[in-house]
Amino acid sequence: MNYNIALLRGDGIGPEIVDSAVRVLEKIGEKYGHTFNFTPYLIGGASLDEYGIPLTQETIDGCLASDSVLLGAVGGPKWDTLPGNMRPEKALLGIRAAMGLFTNLRPAKLYPALKGDCPLREDIVANGFDIMIVRELTGGIYFGERGMREGKYGEEAYDTECYSRMEIERIAKVAFETARKRRGKLISIDKANVLDTSRLWRKIVHEMAEQYPDVECSDMLVDNAAMQLVRNPAQFDVIVTSNMFGDILSDEASQITGSIGMLASASLGDNTRGLYEPIHGSAPDIAGQNKANPIATILSAAMMLLYSFGLTKESDAIIGAVDAVLNAGYRTADIAHGGEALGTVEITDKIIENI
Ligand code: IPM
Ligand code: MG
Repeated sequence: MNYNIALLRGDGIGPEIVDSAVRVLEKIGEKYGHTFNFTPYLIGGASLDEYGIPLTQETIDGCLASDSVLLGAVGGPKWDTLPGNMRPEKALLGIRAAMGLFTNLRPAKLYPALKGDCPLREDIVANGFDIMIVRELTGGIYFGERGMREGKYGEEAYDTECYSRMEIERIAKVAFETARKRRGKLISIDKANVLDTSRLWRKIVHEMAEQYPDVECSDMLVDNAAMQLVRNPAQFDVIVTSNMFGDILSDEASQITGSIGMLASASLGDNTRGLYEPIHGSAPDIAGQNKANPIATILSAAMMLLYSFGLTKESDAIIGAVDAVLNAGYRTADIAHGGEALGTVEITDKIIENI
């Protein structure tokens, strides 16, 4: 088959890690008889430098015309002082909204080979953990009404959280169906003791649970969830939560796997076109030095093969190659503990050799 992939390399380490994933996909194409055509578009700081805005219509149109999109990372100190709507991060929110990507899947799994990197006590992670965070991605406070105004005490700013029944139902449906394909356990995370949006969220999740009797569904308050993730991560199978809670909890979940450099993500809408990106940032401090860990981006490409193209064995081939390389003891600097570390290019070579 022939697949057209839009590449949003972005800033910092973005170009290096995306290029690693491209090399891995090319190897997959060669081995399994697929052709991947790659078309690059600018996003974030790179787009600001070239066009004065972080996300252009050309980039949006290119992504919408593609079969799927692979993104590196955006942002860096150079653009940190720009106003909110001109920041590179705004482009991420913009491309997710423009592509209608309301679902964000963020798997957080403890790799046996990396157990030593997990900051949690050994007995806590004795049985490992394998969590799928389903984060709502195009609603809530990141997209709500906002502004600055004069208030009782002078200057003030506000952001608002709003969720419609439609938005909650469609993300909950994804979560129930994801749980059904995994271990059948769904925990919906909210702040229903305080927020009206959470109370509506909880009510709708309960209504929908009746249609999924095979899924064991329960609720957890977000503050408790933050604690439970480090107390007993193995209790989680699928988590479903709002945009902001998912943003925060997915960083926490990534850290307990040992390295944020390992975690992939898929953003999906109601068709097969998705946007795949590592959950880490652009790491400007190590950009261009062949030091970045490309595994999260390579695993994001594996998620693309599975979720956008339905190429299960090709996706598994990438995951298997990453496992083999880690099991053989190869590490990038972020997971080497001062021991011998391979560069971005060299670890990619090892992964390609194992496909
Ligand atoms: C993430 C990031 C983004 C988000 C930011 C950079 C807009 O933190 O992908 O988790 O909040 O979604
Ligand atoms: Mg985040």
